[in-house]
Amino acid sequence: MGAVHLCLFLTLSLIAISTKAHNITDILSPFPDYSLFNSYLTQTRLADDINTRQTITILALNNSEMSALAAKHPLSVIKKALALHVLLDYYDGQKLHQISKGTTLSTTLFQTTGNAPGNLGLVNITDLKGGKVGFGSAAPGSALDSTYTKSVKQVPYNISVIEISKPIVAPGILTADAPSASDVNITALLEKAGCKTFASLIISTGVIKVYQTALDKGLTVFAPNDEAFKAPGMPDLTKLTNAEVISLLQYHALATYTPIGTLKATKDPITTLATNGAGKFDLSVSTAGDSVTLDTGVDSSRVAATVIDTTPLCIFTVDSVLLPTELFGESPSPAPAPTPEPVTSPAPALATTSPSPAHANAPSPVFSPPAPPMSTPERAPAEGPAAESENSTSDIAAGDVKAPALLKTVVTVSASVIVAVLLS
Ligand SMILES: *[C@@H]1O[C@H](CO)[C@@H](O)[C@H](O)[C@H]1NC(C)=O
Ligand SMILES: *[C@@H]1O[C@H](CO)[C@@H](O)[C@H](O)[C@H]1NC(C)=O
Ligand SMILES: *[C@@H]1O[C@H](CO)[C@@H](O)[C@H](O)[C@H]1NC(C)=O
Ligand SMILES: *[C@@H]1O[C@H](CO)[C@@H](O)[C@H](O)[C@H]1NC(C)=O
Ligand SMILES: *[C@@H]1O[C@H](CO)[C@@H](O)[C@H](O)[C@H]1NC(C)=O
Ligand SMILES: *[C@@H]1O[C@H](CO)[C@@H](O)[C@H](O)[C@H]1NC(C)=O
Repeated sequence: MGAVHLCLFLTLSLIAISTKAHNITDILSPFPDYSLFNSYLTQTRLADDINTRQTITILALNNSEMSALAAKHPLSVIKKALALHVLLDYYDGQKLHQISKGTTLSTTLFQTTGNAPGNLGLVNITDLKGGKVGFGSAAPGSALDSTYTKSVKQVPYNISVIEISKPIVAPGILTADAPSASDVNITALLEKAGCKTFASLIISTGVIKVYQTALDKGLTVFAPNDEAFKAPGMPDLTKLTNAEVISLLQYHALATYTPIGTLKATKDPITTLATNGAGKFDLSVSTAGDSVTLDTGVDSSRVAATVIDTTPLCIFTVDSVLLPTELFGESPSPAPAPTPEPVTSPAPALATTSPSPAHANAPSPVFSPPAPPMSTPERAPAEGPAAESENSTSDIAAGDVKAPALLKTVVTVSASVIVAVLLS
C-alpha cells in the first residue's frame, strides 16, 4: 500500500512538473487523426508560440481537412490560416455550450501578428440550434460553417484541444498574394524600416548574397536601426577589417526561420550565420512578457519590431548593434583583442589578414584557426563574399584600413555609390 501511494505521489508530482509548460507536439502525438495538423504546427513554428501561452484553445483539423487546406497553399499562407485556429482563451466542450447570450468573439494568434486588420484575427463562436456550436471568421458576412465535432485533450483552464469540422477561413487570407520569401527585396524592406545603414553595409560587403543563399532553408535577420550605429559607445567599425565587418553582419542573422514566438521559446544560445569552427558567434535570448532581448556577451539589444514574417523569412529590427565577444571581447571595450604581430597599417589592433579561404592557412589573432569564419560550406555559399579572389578581398580590406573614412562614407551614401567606390 505504501509503495502504491508513493508511486501515485511521484506520478502526480511528475504530472505537476511536466504540465507547467505544455508541449502541443507531445499533446497531439498520440492522435494519428491530427498528425498532419501537428506537423504543420511544427513547420510553421506555431507550436513554439502555442507552448509559451498560458491559456489557449487549439481548433484541430483532421488529416483530410488539413490536407485539403494545405494542398493549394504555400507555408506562409498555411501559417496565417492555422494561426486563426489558436484561440487565446480556454474553451472545452462544456464552456462552448455555456457561452453567455450564445455567441462570442475570441482573439486568436493571428490577431497578435499585426497583420489582421479589423476583425480578421477574431473568431466568432456561436451556440447554434440543435446543440451544435458553430465557428467562423468574425469578419462581417462570414459563414459559421465550421462546427465543434469533439473534444481531443484538455488540461483545464490551461490548454484545450478540440476538433472542428472544417477550416475557419478569414476573407482574403487564402487568396491574398503571399509574397514568396525569395521574391522579397530584403534591402528595400530594411531601408523602409529605418535600417538604411545596415542595408548599405550588407550590400557593400556582399553579405546580402550570404543572406539570400540561406533564405532557401530559412533566414532570420536582426537589423539594427540607423540610430543604433550612432549610439554612444558604439565601436568604430572603420577599425575592423573587411572580414571582421562581414562576420559582424553575418552575426546579425540566423540560418533558420525563427519568428517571435520561437525566439520567446528559445532557451539555449542560438548560432548565427557567423558561427564557425573558430568562433561561437552565438546569441542568448531572454524574454520578459512580450519583450525579447538578445544578449551577445558584450551588449544586449531589444527586438523592437517585426519587419516581415513570411515563412521561411523573418526580419526584425533591433535597438542596438549586436557586438559578438569574438570581435569585441567580454567587456564593452571598443577595441578588439590586441595583436602582438608587427603592424604596417594605420589600424594597429586589426592588422590581421582577412580570414577568407584564400587565407585559410594564415593564423589570425582574432579568429583562431583552424576554420575561417566563412568556410563552412552550408553557411558560406560559393558566390558569397568569401569566394572573392584573394586580391579583390585584400583590396577591399586594405581600403578599409588605409582610408578609415571610407566606411563612414559607405554607411551613409547610396548603394550604387558604394559599389562604384569599391569597384573603382
Ligand atoms: C495551469 O497553469 C498554471 C499557471 O498558469 C499552473 O499553476 C497550473 O498548475 C496549471 N494547471 C495544470 C493542471 O497544469
Ligand atoms: C515537444 O515534444 C516534441 C516531441 O515529443 C519534442 O521533440 C520537442 O523537443 C518538445 N519541445 C519542447 C519545447 O520541449
Ligand atoms: C457571430 O455571427 C453571428 C452570425 O453572423 C452573428 O449573429 C453574431 O452576432 C456574431 N457574434 C458576435 C459576438 O459578433
Ligand atoms: C474529417 O472530418 C470531416 C468533418 O468532420 C469528416 O467528414 C471526415 O470523415 C473526417 N475524416 C477523417 C479521415 O476522419
Ligand atoms: C532592391 O531594392 C533596392 C533599393 O532598396 C534596389 O536598389 C534594388 O535594385 C532592388 N533589388 C531588386 C532585385 O529589385
Ligand atoms: C594578385 O596581385 C599580385 C600583385 O599584387 C599579382 O602578382 C597576382 O597575380 C594577383 N593574383 C590574382 C589571383 O589576381
